[in-house]
Amino acid sequence: MPSGRTRPGGPEDITAGMATVRSVDARTSPTFADVAAAAERLAGVAHRTPVLTSSRIDAGLGCRVFFKAESLQRVGAFKFRGAYNAISRLDPGQRARGVVAYSSGNHAQAIALAARLLGVPATIVMPTDAPGIKRRATEGYGARVVGYDRYAEDREQIGADLAARDGLALIPPYDHPDIIAGQGTAALELITEVPDLDAVLTPLGGGGLLSGTLLALGERRPRARVYGVEPAAGDDGLRSLRAGRIVHIDPPRTIADGAQTQHLGTLTFPIISERVTDILTASDDELVSAMALLAATMKIVVEPTGVLGFAALAREAASFRGQRVGIVLSGGNVDIARFAGLLGRAAGDGTA
Ligand SMILES: Cc1ncc(COP(=O)(O)O)c(C=O)c1O
Repeated sequence: MPSGRTRPGGPEDITAGMATVRSVDARTSPTFADVAAAAERLAGVAHRTPVLTSSRIDAGLGCRVFFKAESLQRVGAFKFRGAYNAISRLDPGQRARGVVAYSSGNHAQAIALAARLLGVPATIVMPTDAPGIKRRATEGYGARVVGYDRYAEDREQIGADLAARDGLALIPPYDHPDIIAGQGTAALELITEVPDLDAVLTPLGGGGLLSGTLLALGERRPRARVYGVEPAAGDDGLRSLRAGRIVHIDPPRTIADGAQTQHLGTLTFPIISERVTDILTASDDELVSAMALLAATMKIVVEPTGVLGFAALAREAASFRGQRVGIVLSGGNVDIARFAGLLGRAAGDGTA
């Protein structure tokens, strides 16, 4: 079967032509074969999320838009893909000892659920002032939550200490080959379902999602343009691309809490700088407008970080005129009262 094509009337084979699984060292840059292998591991476990379209949005923007709705993924974000892939790669002894992750967001819930499904004990290091809803969700998946003071303590150190003391495997949120490979499976599904895309836009935080997307597109759709989109207030990715080295920034102030990362990773930066078409940014106001448009038109709830790609497309629509554009809506985890407040403020109805 030609790569990237779907079999007429048959199940789509997204791993066609894949290489056999190779052993991936934590510092080895992942390849397309790792993305394809991750897709096999995730088959029947992760949701194959729908690709949504809207003729109203297409007419408004003057291009065809294909939304990969990872907001409808397990735990409400693409993060489940990398987490499950990474934990399922651990050897039995490590699985018995357990895993540790530091995160207050989607990675925490993703690790907690993936660990539970695989029967692996999970510890999540989370700030004591994290929203109760996030802590409860993580505990609800069976993980042990260890609190820390985000202003006085270093979560990376706490994670490393726990890993050393209890023999836990530390699973970082983006800079790990199995995480990157797992995240790439969302784009692999998208281009399998919609093979002839001209461009794909994904949110960009630490770069796990964008790197995996670049690996998938690079093999299957090398001519498609791929953009990462980060918050305007946290444009470390763009600055790194321009400087040719990883630029560190202070914690950015933005409503896109999943993309408040301060720097790209040592694995994600080389993949991105070598392959990405460009990095774009979106302001918080543009994110809120994009969230409102998706809610009003498509009846879907997407979190601020999740609309980064769409917000940039909406602004830059003129340069995508007549094209077929894939957008990864990466997550939908936003407290519903906050969602209503943000949209109310955008509409100027005084509810926020
Ligand atoms: C919804 C959502 N989108 C995008 C990102 C950014 O992902 P990455 O760090 O892989 O770039 C995150 C990270 O937490 C996220 O939660």
